[in-house]
Amino acid sequence: MGALEIAPDVFSVGAKDLNRKIFDALIPLPEGTSYNSYLVLGEQKNALIDTVNPGFEKELMLNVLEKISFEKLDYLIMNHAEPDHANAIPEILEEAKNAKLLASKMGAQVAKGYYEVPEDRIEIVDETTRIPLGGKTLRFVDAPWLHWPETMFTYLEEDAILFPCDFFGQHIGTKENFDYEMDWERLEEYAKRYFGEIMLPFRSAGQKALEKMKSLEIKTIAPSHGVIFTNPDKILVRYSSWTSGKLAKHALIAYVSMWGSSEIMAKELERKLREKGVLVSSYNLQEADLGEIARDLVDSACIVIAAPTFLGGVHPLALNAASLAKALRPPAKYAALVSSYGWGPMAGRTITEALKGTGIEMLGTVEVKARPKKDDLEKIGALASIIAEKIGANGSEQSPGLRSIINPTG
Ligand code: FEO
Repeated sequence: MGALEIAPDVFSVGAKDLNRKIFDALIPLPEGTSYNSYLVLGEQKNALIDTVNPGFEKELMLNVLEKISFEKLDYLIMNHAEPDHANAIPEILEEAKNAKLLASKMGAQVAKGYYEVPEDRIEIVDETTRIPLGGKTLRFVDAPWLHWPETMFTYLEEDAILFPCDFFGQHIGTKENFDYEMDWERLEEYAKRYFGEIMLPFRSAGQKALEKMKSLEIKTIAPSHGVIFTNPDKILVRYSSWTSGKLAKHALIAYVSMWGSSEIMAKELERKLREKGVLVSSYNLQEADLGEIARDLVDSACIVIAAPTFLGGVHPLALNAASLAKALRPPAKYAALVSSYGWGPMAGRTITEALKGTGIEMLGTVEVKARPKKDDLEKIGALASIIAEKIGANGSEQSPGLRSIINPTG
């Protein structure tokens, strides 16, 4: 893509990867991703912030060479050690013989161990460090666990640009480079999806970082994936909400069905919840995009699994969904299960066990032998009332007796 100026003498020099279809061998990338790297040119010194994913080293180097030769690179900054941003460090340091690697204390350990950077090429930086480049000054914000323990942000004082690596990232590899080039709803969708996939388990670390950022004037946020925010207010408001774990009147239904019974129950629950004013997103786990599920876990108040008993447990796709929900530590307060079985109900017990330790309250299970009958659908209606009431949906009823109709613990 070449070197793209984002402020006077500040260039985006990374690479777009529209062909990448999956991240972390788990999450689909509908529109690829980008590995953003930034070159800051001072009057006396120059710095490169982060590098690129394996396979894109040459593109990064050519982009840098559009602006300076590598002998003029004084600093290579590693905000985060994951290979999609740090893997080209050895190649860059090999070319830029005079450059020092700037990293957090823990980052320095990773750089030595993982990237075999010699100790005498590393300078540890912290929140007291200032790196004057001549007319441009770099500072650093410790941001541990966003999303690895060594993570830090870089801040360019004069231009009020924050380089927060993955924080505020989005997997977007299309031609757009700036927020104003994208429809906000599409950008928010990708930002929320990324937050759900990567940052959701680290909400309290995110809140701490947002608090620290209040002491900085920030005109631009330049993350290491996706587009640059030139008007950061909107995304800051969203991040404030997402990191706080604020819940919507939203239920997420993840279902899998072998012969249709669990699907009938999932659809009935969805219909009843919608009648009661609950916002519902429903995913067939056979074809679901896990990125969309991660996005909806950001603010769903209730997670419903619908799945059959399968070989003495629950269908593996449902167990996988429960494991993902547990790993991402969503703020959801409630869960429920609807299930069908042939000989013995095992799904409820298995899912309840899988969600142990999350603090999520199991509101109830409806387990049905063979196909759901009229009274089973009535139980699903009762479960919908309990969910709606718990999450405070407008159409919810007061239903003190409903809990007795369904199994509250599975
Ligand atoms: Fe984009 Fe944590 O790397």
